[in-house]
Amino acid sequence: MASIFGRTLDRKAFVESFELFAPTRIVAGDDSLGRLADEVGRFGRKCLIVSGQRSARLSGLIDRVTDLLTSKKIGFSLFDQVEPNPTTDTIQDGVDLARSEKVRWVLGLGGGSAIDAAKAIALMAVNQGDIHSYCAGMRPEYPPFPVVAVPTTSGTGSEVTAASLITDVKAGDKLGLVLPELFPRVAILDPALAVTMPENVTVDTGLDALCHAIESYFSRRRSPLTDILALEAIRRIVKSLPVARKDPENLGARSDMHLAAAQSGLCIANTGTLVPHALGYPITVRYGLSHGRTTALLTPAFLKKMQAAEPERAEKTGELLGARENPPQAMRAFIESLGVAPRLGAYGISEKDAEPFSRLAQGKQHIKNSMGEWTEDVLQDVFLKSI
Ligand SMILES: [Fe+2]
Repeated sequence: MASIFGRTLDRKAFVESFELFAPTRIVAGDDSLGRLADEVGRFGRKCLIVSGQRSARLSGLIDRVTDLLTSKKIGFSLFDQVEPNPTTDTIQDGVDLARSEKVRWVLGLGGGSAIDAAKAIALMAVNQGDIHSYCAGMRPEYPPFPVVAVPTTSGTGSEVTAASLITDVKAGDKLGLVLPELFPRVAILDPALAVTMPENVTVDTGLDALCHAIESYFSRRRSPLTDILALEAIRRIVKSLPVARKDPENLGARSDMHLAAAQSGLCIANTGTLVPHALGYPITVRYGLSHGRTTALLTPAFLKKMQAAEPERAEKTGELLGARENPPQAMRAFIESLGVAPRLGAYGISEKDAEPFSRLAQGKQHIKNSMGEWTEDVLQDVFLKSI
């Protein structure tokens, strides 16, 4: 019992306690890209546009964006060299250009790789030292350049998170750069920018968003607010990812997927991701299997563990996926319904990878975020059951 304002309160009552941080201004909807120039004038007169090597240019998006910037007399330099799963070398090239061109903010335009690269370049362009040190928790001396994110895929949620994933080719793993200063200042969610995504990218990025929502729902760091966002994101993805795959120009489905990606991004910005992400990173680096697909294929076995650790949440997840009583099977069936072979073995991954990849996952924060007991043996078991 405790006393406050003259009242005695029952401190044994259950009170939800949590923090949630989501500082990105979200501008969403039909032709929201048209509002770009109005949103960015305060960041400075020159930006670095960071994009992938082909898709943004081919679709005419770069021209549209540069026209919008020019209309408000905002200068730009273009760094269009970001590959899928950008490497530390690519980031350094972008940093060199940002410095030599004296830009003041960074516009990430494209999929999660372009936006992740934009964040890392924004940090490293104004700070000295090795990117590995910042990944290990070193605080930057100066705040990064403001980042504006314009996603053209509906998956990573990077447009609303503080994380940037960079591939360290030598270590054979992904580095996680996570700093509160890396939240983009503005995210523009224009569903029309997603309609040119090829089918496999639509599916794989959509599966990534689904995994973010599911993992968030089982995270030790979840809250009532992330739960609402996660369940709503799962519902939208189950409904609209199959439609977006079959009918790529269906703006309603694209809008649902763009929102679901941001919803699950807001979740993981606060809850982190869990075991499927940690086990999946080395597979993506070693085998080139896309991040979203890899993570999704590890999720049925993860859900099996969650049935034991958190049966009610597992049932709720199964219900949204289409089979309340069997969440792992529901996830596998959903993956298959999207034309994706649902087991890692179909992509050349074998039992011999289980031990080294589980060892790489073991020390990661993702494991600490995961409910239940996660020894290396349990991780290996999830890996083996996914092959
Ligand atoms: Fe992911």
